[in-house]
Amino acid sequence: MKSLVIASQKGGVGKTTVSLNLAYAFARAGYRTVLIDTDPQGAIGLSLSKSLTTRLGLADYVAGEATVDDALVPTKVDGFAIIPVGTVAPIETQSFGAAMADGSRLRGLLEALGPRFDLALVDTPCGFGGITAGALRACSHAVSPIQAEPISLRSVMQLLEMVKALGAEGEVAGVVGFLLSMLQTNDDASLQVARDVWEMFPRELLFDVSVPRDGVFLEATAAGVPVGLLRRPAPPVTHVFDLVASELARRMELDSARMVDGPQSLLD
Ligand SMILES: Nc1ncnc2c1ncn2[C@@H]1O[C@H](COP(=O)(O)OP(=O)(O)OP(=O)(O)O)[C@@H](O)[C@H]1O
Ligand SMILES: [Mg+2]
Repeated sequence: MKSLVIASQKGGVGKTTVSLNLAYAFARAGYRTVLIDTDPQGAIGLSLSKSLTTRLGLADYVAGEATVDDALVPTKVDGFAIIPVGTVAPIETQSFGAAMADGSRLRGLLEALGPRFDLALVDTPCGFGGITAGALRACSHAVSPIQAEPISLRSVMQLLEMVKALGAEGEVAGVVGFLLSMLQTNDDASLQVARDVWEMFPRELLFDVSVPRDGVFLEATAAGVPVGLLRRPAPPVTHVFDLVASELARRMELDSARMVDGPQSLLD
């Protein structure tokens, strides 16, 4: 099983939105996908259902108080499950971060999930505290959303620096890309950031598509669903995540036993 951490130094750049919608895109594409929330605020839970915020989850597993099966929540989408963060009282945030920091507990969880899934996606809180450092240590790959606004570029350099520092200590996630998020094509400052990013980084660290700023994300959050499940037909922006998932599957060399390599006949 491969594992992909979504991380950034800066807050509010779209990590949770990208994690949820990308996980849904991978599952729809046929990869058995588990989405793990490591944010003590329960970002994924808050985005989906209040009931997820009161369930056993990652923190309970890390504390040795829940099994993998206690923490795993199946969804109605075939091959898509969620591990909510679980119960982290404000006073426990620091100890949860400390327990996650060396990555060993998350690595253990990923190993236990390995036979059941093709991919684990890990949403992290902003900044490079213990939780994110642990996730970068435990996961095989990392993606960082870049909010298309002028102060975001610094955050990109910080992620590269962090990965380099962790890499010097031993195993660490390989960066597979920076994904421009909240791009406003009618805004010069936003477009300038996109141009700067395209100039600064090699093509293999970027994606052909960007996530536009679109009110549909707020609508989806309010409804507690990925954008692809907001209505039928799904809003057009859903396809951005299908394209990013397909690009990532190639870069991460993702396999799935459920893939069928070849034509499938339409009629009997
Ligand atoms: N492409 C987008 N267009 C419009 N709104 C967006 C987009 N992406 C995210 N948002 C909105 O911006 C807010 C922040 O997004 P999100 O929670 O995904 O960021 P985050 O990086 O996970 O934040 P945090 O650092 O607090 O974890 C949310 O209200 C979300 O609905
Ligand atoms: Mg978040």
